[in-house]
Amino acid sequence: MATGVLSPGRARIEKKTLRRDRWWLPPLNMAVVLAFFVVYATVRIFMNKYYWAPDEHYLTPVYSPCISAACVPGSSHFGQPLPAPPPFVPIAFITFVILAGFRATCYYYRKAYYRSFFLSPAACAVPEPHKKYSGETRFPLILQNYHRYFFYGAVVFALINLYDAILALHGKNGGVGVGLGTIIIWINVLMLWGYTFSCHACRHVFGGRLRNFSKHPVRYRLWTLISKLNVRHGQFAMISLFTVIFTDAYIMAVSAGWISDPRLFN
Ligand code: FES
Repeated sequence: MATGVLSPGRARIEKKTLRRDRWWLPPLNMAVVLAFFVVYATVRIFMNKYYWAPDEHYLTPVYSPCISAACVPGSSHFGQPLPAPPPFVPIAFITFVILAGFRATCYYYRKAYYRSFFLSPAACAVPEPHKKYSGETRFPLILQNYHRYFFYGAVVFALINLYDAILALHGKNGGVGVGLGTIIIWINVLMLWGYTFSCHACRHVFGGRLRNFSKHPVRYRLWTLISKLNVRHGQFAMISLFTVIFTDAYIMAVSAGWISDPRLFN
């Protein structure tokens, strides 16, 4: 039986949509942004170089943690427990799987790419082209339910990114120092923490499955705080996407010697 706007009982409208505004603009913009991110991330992951700036101690979040024997000296803040991967496997493979899985299954991004790429639906009051609708009840979209597990992985990565940011407070002549890259890295970490801890799964972890809040005052306070962040989850999702790209591009440029890192001190 036909579903969606073609299902029995729905008004038969011949036109594709009655909307007259430029409803196609937001999904088109989103498609361009997401496509750019996918292309950029793919190129960077297969580059396998320019991820560590040794003098400044900057490690790009795209390659963190660098835990294989193929990582350049100094970049492995947690040792090198993994052997060097075969040449066709990027050394940032594990990082990529967790972070891409976290973003791809995120509720905000799901809405974005279902609209932009699947046109499902492209906008309110614009029928989708698909004849059938099974939602996220079948393979492969049922895998979206694993988002909560990617969330746990993302929390570990948020802590690792924070540790990398602390190490980026390294002076070029020893001791503590701050360069432009340090500031960029810290802004990125703040945005990543905002994105990770405003996650819907995070809100559920702290405040879900409780009969009443009065018996769980700490969880209630955390849930209240996360709920405030959660309102801005979409903004954190998009801002952190750009800060990750910008931070990675900056560290790549410093690491490759294309630019030098201006120092505020030391
Ligand atoms: Fe977006 Fe969890 S809902 S990261």
